[in-house]
Amino acid sequence: MSLLSQSPSQPTLGKPQVSPIPSAAFKRSLDHVAADTEALLDRLLTADPVAGERQRPARLLDAMRYASLGGGKRVRPFLVVETAKLFGVPRRNALMVAAALECVHCYSLVHDDLPAMDNDALRRGRPTVHKAFDEATAILAGDGLLTFAFDVLSRPQVHEDVQIRIQLISALAKAAGVGGMAGGQMLDLAAEGRFGGSPLDFSGVRTLQSMKTGVLLQFACLSGALLGEADRNARVALARYGTAVGEAFQISDDLLDIDGDAATVGKATGKDAAAHKATFVSLLGVDGARERLRKLVVKAERALASFGEDAAILQAAARFIANRRS
Ligand code: IPE
Ligand code: IPE
Ligand code: MG
Ligand code: MG
Ligand code: MG
Repeated sequence: MSLLSQSPSQPTLGKPQVSPIPSAAFKRSLDHVAADTEALLDRLLTADPVAGERQRPARLLDAMRYASLGGGKRVRPFLVVETAKLFGVPRRNALMVAAALECVHCYSLVHDDLPAMDNDALRRGRPTVHKAFDEATAILAGDGLLTFAFDVLSRPQVHEDVQIRIQLISALAKAAGVGGMAGGQMLDLAAEGRFGGSPLDFSGVRTLQSMKTGVLLQFACLSGALLGEADRNARVALARYGTAVGEAFQISDDLLDIDGDAATVGKATGKDAAAHKATFVSLLGVDGARERLRKLVVKAERALASFGEDAAILQAAARFIANRRS
């Protein structure tokens, strides 16, 4: 039986939100990818320097390990592994890309939580890195994780063809940088009104959110196609899917800020409105944001139609992203 027919075709986003149980196969895969990503990061982030390094100072390494191990849903690694699977890419290759991407994501969280940014004390149910260590160490841990991602992506274990590795490095650099996540974080802070300027309209919020959050999720989906040297049609389909789940991911995060349980979410809630964050919730209201989320799930599911049953698990992932409670 297909995964799709086991799950409701419409996400359950009524009020109060009730999560449908993600399909068993989806949950199994997410747990499996999370465990494999954890093990790989643990193996990569050791105290022993590799060729080209002098030493790895213990305090910095500890902070990088604290930021990247022992938590997180690992949704981005899941998307890398499952999109790569569509093209028969060996799991060990996909996991290297997944680990690199997760380093970028974890760095973005460490810096996002800093006092100068969102000023948060709790992340993944534990003190944020600047609370557990100190602010300077947290900044350096972010720097270390971001650069480590590109060290990992450049290694032959990612793909034997150096051209493919360069494509991945280039795509991740763009997704993370001034025209991607870092740029989106700048727009996010500016939209709070810190530097003057007027409130964002619909397209402004869309651009902000797709840059700060969407592009890294899009990279996750496209990296599978790059690793698998997929044809243009497949790339376009995965880009559409990645765009929809990327937007959905931040809307569900913003809804969790309003109605999530901090203990379950593992971070403070109820902060975005007070900080004047520009979100689809602030723009469309809770019901409007839920409606948008519903449409994005349908869009994500439809984008994968050409892959048939092979992509059912990615369709389940879109529903999970919209209905998640953490
Ligand atoms: C949180 O990301 C930050 C956003 C981009 C909304 P996740 O919800 O993926 O955080 P973890 O990795 O599971 O902790
Ligand atoms: C963060 O968005 C996006 C990042 C690039 C880290 P948020 O600021 O809403 O993420 P949380 O709620 O702190 O996880
Ligand atoms: Mg933020
Ligand atoms: Mg934040
Ligand atoms: Mg948030």
